[in-house]
Amino acid sequence: MSKQLRSFDWFGKSDKMGFVHRSWLRNQGYPDDYFEGKPVIGICNTWSELTPCNGHLRDFAEIVKRGVVEAGGFPLEFPVTSLGETIMRPTTMLFRNLASMDVEETIRANPIDGVVLLTGCDKTTPSTVMGACSVGLPTIVVPGGPMLNGRFRGACIGSGSFNWLIKEKQGLEHYSKEDIHEVEVGAARSQGHCMTMGTASTMACMVEALGLTLPGAAAIPAVDARKKTIAQLSGRRIVEMVKEDLTLAKILTREAFENAIVINAAIGGSTNFIIHLLAIAGRMGIDLTLEDFDRIGARIPLLVNLKPSGEFLMEDFYYAGGLPVVIREMGRYLKQDAMTVNGLPIGENNKKSPCYNTEVIATLDQPLQQEAGIAVLKGNLCENGAVIKPSAASPALMKHRGPAVVFETMEDYHQRIDDPALEIDEHSVIVLKGVGPVGYPGMPEVGNVDLPLKLLEKGIKDMVRISDGRMSGTASGTVVLHVSPESSVGGTLALVKDGDMIEIDVANRKLQLDISDEELQKRRKAWQAPPPQATRGYVKFYIDHVQQAHLGADLDLLRGGSGSAVSRDLH
Ligand code: FES
Repeated sequence: MSKQLRSFDWFGKSDKMGFVHRSWLRNQGYPDDYFEGKPVIGICNTWSELTPCNGHLRDFAEIVKRGVVEAGGFPLEFPVTSLGETIMRPTTMLFRNLASMDVEETIRANPIDGVVLLTGCDKTTPSTVMGACSVGLPTIVVPGGPMLNGRFRGACIGSGSFNWLIKEKQGLEHYSKEDIHEVEVGAARSQGHCMTMGTASTMACMVEALGLTLPGAAAIPAVDARKKTIAQLSGRRIVEMVKEDLTLAKILTREAFENAIVINAAIGGSTNFIIHLLAIAGRMGIDLTLEDFDRIGARIPLLVNLKPSGEFLMEDFYYAGGLPVVIREMGRYLKQDAMTVNGLPIGENNKKSPCYNTEVIATLDQPLQQEAGIAVLKGNLCENGAVIKPSAASPALMKHRGPAVVFETMEDYHQRIDDPALEIDEHSVIVLKGVGPVGYPGMPEVGNVDLPLKLLEKGIKDMVRISDGRMSGTASGTVVLHVSPESSVGGTLALVKDGDMIEIDVANRKLQLDISDEELQKRRKAWQAPPPQATRGYVKFYIDHVQQAHLGADLDLLRGGSGSAVSRDLH
């Protein structure tokens, strides 16, 4: 080890504060040699009983510690804000940036030389990675892993996507109360996160594609013994990473971000990927833009056949060979030299990964779909962009022109969507306002609002829906999301009225409100901002500082990093 350990500043000194730092920690029984130059590894744990997807991570921390000790490190576990997607209100996205601040400040303020991030549920991956990036120490991620496949009456069911199905009003008639109870108990059969290619699985694949995990870590189910092996090996590896000074800046290069975009397209990952990757890039000072997602990813073929758009689930993906197969198969699109946490380039790590089931992971020669990435739309309705996932949309609606049916808020939508008097048909375009980062606040996953009951009863399955919100990675439909600027800050979306014609043309990347510039100016002049949703506390702070979706919805003052140095001492 050439560089002096950061933790030396706390434990290596013979002055009063050195005594204080060591002495109090000794109450846990650590022997002398723990303070004599062992790399201190912070194990950042998002375990919480309020985050069901991360409920197993308390045990995993012990396994990571085993690896750290074996490699000669000194493991110290610490808790951070954990965000449970299905439980927190109004939306975990409101707290992603808060959690990232917790991670950043805890790492920097403590005698930590390297970090292991234990993650799982949707926001626990980006929040911890964002925080770690703003410090920049050697960091490895251990994704908690998906649940086993859900089961219902002999068939596999995926988290979320099956729920959407039974939630559809018409669908309810086909399922009895007992059926729904069976789904409830059969959909979450084991520890782990959602096992569709929803946001949590997308995030796990994202960190593997970025080079932040040991090869193959993303797809291993939470309860598979090999997940524990990965945790232990990650514990060993982080100690070596500290010795090699393999910091985040050496891994999270522009090339790594471009690789992640390619892989996300090939796996059919969630649209939430965009917002989180932009935020992570912002922390690293990498100039990644919304246009990069379209330029690099839009024409990438789809290889992975997972729900919500495909047939299989994460357990099947793992048995088929997992992400290493996709990385190998996509080789010609990737920056093969991008460095990863095990000290080897991504191309080297994955070059021999065999595929065991081409129904689950298709080949590049015979992909499931030719162009699978996320399309970025532009036009007067979204000057800074909006996104759509074509693989989750209806081909017939990819070019469409129809009259707007406008809902000013989510509450307005709930109140009127099933009003028999509502003038709406399958050609209408549902416009939902007030669900952006500032407006809701926190940009909830509501963009895939249900169709009106009267259209469902007619057999209509999809309609164009446009909003400044997000969509769950387990959902699908012709849903235009992340409209920026959002309605609550005066974006054109705020000015749309019932009956205005809206044109969407995905092939030409266009989203246009067909009214005259003159009329638009008139409406803009008359527009008044809605009252803010909070006047105090974190939520007020969030509203005052959150950036728009096309920048990753991070807080403006959190972009970039402050490194690991602490300017003032403890006196
Ligand atoms: Fe945690 Fe889906 S609810 S990953």
